[in-house]
Amino acid sequence: MDDALVTAPAEDALLERVDAALSALIAHDDWLPPACAQADATRYRQYLLHVDAAARYSVVSFVWGPGQGTPIHNHTVWGLIGVLRGAELCTEYAAPGAGALVRQRQHRLERGAIDRVSPTIGDWHAVHNALTEAPSISIHVYGGDIGRIERSLWDEATHSVRPFVSGYANDRPWFAPHEAAR
Ligand SMILES: [Fe+2]
Repeated sequence: MDDALVTAPAEDALLERVDAALSALIAHDDWLPPACAQADATRYRQYLLHVDAAARYSVVSFVWGPGQGTPIHNHTVWGLIGVLRGAELCTEYAAPGAGALVRQRQHRLERGAIDRVSPTIGDWHAVHNALTEAPSISIHVYGGDIGRIERSLWDEATHSVRPFVSGYANDRPWFAPHEAAR
């Protein structure tokens, strides 16, 4: 990741390199610690696996219980979503206008598939577990410390955009070599 950020700063070239790294990561399902793979009965979980010391990128595991999903939201930075276990449904939207949100398309991601978001290629979506009787897990890579970035979600009740900061389900990242070196 560090090499990719230094040598391929243009977004499309950078995403190609991150896509290759994420594809290799999710090709094997023998590394995610159980603590970062725990589903919750009430809502999806996002566990911080690693955040770059300069907050240039973060790696997060999303764990969806049966039927769970996100609200419609944006990211404000680039992001790649790779399915490690199960399958996901991604619904894409145009950036909302005043009081209106336009759904564009929905696609299903099977194990090993990768989806992309960013303000330049399309930044609004909702993601759901495609499985109704089993958890699904995806590994996400973002161009920032995604749990601490102020972004927006679509409030279905008021038909308007409101700010949110997602946070993480764990207090400390699973993989933090820069912290251990201090
Ligand atoms: Fe998202």
